[in-house]
Amino acid sequence: MRLACIVGARPNFMKIAPILRAFEKYDSLQPTLIHTGQHYDANLSDVFFEELGISRPDISLGIGSGSHGKQTADILVAIENILLEAQKKGQGFDRMIVVGDVNSTMAAAIAAAKLLIPVAHVEAGLRSFDRTMPEEINRMLTDSICDMLLPSEPDGVTNLKNEGHDDSKIHLVGNVMIDTLLNQVVRAKQSEILSELSLTPGEYGVVTLHRPANVDDKEILSGLLQVLVDISDKMPLVFPIHPRTKSRLEAFDLYGKIESCNNISCLGPLGYNDFLCLTSQAKVIVTDSGGLQEESTALGVPCLTMRPNTERPITVTQGTSTLVGSDAAKLKFHLTEVINGTYRQGSCPELWDGKAAERIAAILAAESSQLA
Ligand code: UD1
Repeated sequence: MRLACIVGARPNFMKIAPILRAFEKYDSLQPTLIHTGQHYDANLSDVFFEELGISRPDISLGIGSGSHGKQTADILVAIENILLEAQKKGQGFDRMIVVGDVNSTMAAAIAAAKLLIPVAHVEAGLRSFDRTMPEEINRMLTDSICDMLLPSEPDGVTNLKNEGHDDSKIHLVGNVMIDTLLNQVVRAKQSEILSELSLTPGEYGVVTLHRPANVDDKEILSGLLQVLVDISDKMPLVFPIHPRTKSRLEAFDLYGKIESCNNISCLGPLGYNDFLCLTSQAKVIVTDSGGLQEESTALGVPCLTMRPNTERPITVTQGTSTLVGSDAAKLKFHLTEVINGTYRQGSCPELWDGKAAERIAAILAAESSQLA
């Protein structure tokens, strides 16, 4: 079975890595890795291939940045060409695999579905019910045209059933991002980054911010920065800054304020192992990332999530995440709990066990044996 596997942006790489590894066990599964180039900077893309042992993409499309419409459209056209060329050579794809919720995920799924190539969506069914998030639109559209839906948590199954998807399409497989985390965490802890930054395990916080809702508005971003500056009085913070956030900080003339704060280390985006080394030994994580809510839950590290809602509710009901929105008082309240040791404990959801990709490969291998 010829599988077109799509990646484009940073969070896709840690999701595809264990899937490609699991496919190696089956001669019948023949993946072709296609990188759209949505993320192109070495520290948002190449570094993950190197550290996670992902083979170089078979096809790189080099699409790059743009407005949502342009980026999505360019990816759609480019992927359609690849799929059509493969068909012309008599080597058409039997299925596409897409992961996550970035523009590349949705654009590739549309191209395949229109050519009647079945699409499997890894991490299907997550819903924030907030259509102001570009990812929510990507998630809804992608799931609506996929014939195989592979949720990471039970809420995903419920959402898909509520949207009318048939049980036969849905397979609760667990969380592939946690497959990668469990596979890498011992190696990651050998990174030198803590000593390079003069940090003591368990005594610092890690901050990430990149959602348009938080970083694209000067007043909101400025308010969040003030909270970080206040927190840094109580513990040192490490802030690897996403390029989108960096450009907004500079445009709003706010970069100097955060960079000059003694107890905040402003860094560029980090590789997987350095970042996991930091998060796995942090006292607290303050973030608006989706994936980091899951990773902190798997690591048992408190996570204060700077969003009003989440598509990953299990990280709040069972895991270590609390939604604080952009409410400085709420953030400070929970931070005090963390510092006093009274913040609640969480537990790791079922099937976040390092074997999600193996379950996906087994499902596809069973399908390929039916095709043969
Ligand atoms: C994208 C995803 C988001 C994901 C995030 C992880 C969508 C809609 N958003 O957001 O879900 O959480 O990736 O990082 O797909 N840029 C660079 N270098 C790069 C790529 C981008 O500097 O290699 C800059 C450009 O100025 C670009 C901006 O970042 O305009 C935004 O990039 P884009 O891919 O549109 O979205 P992200 O904010 O990265």
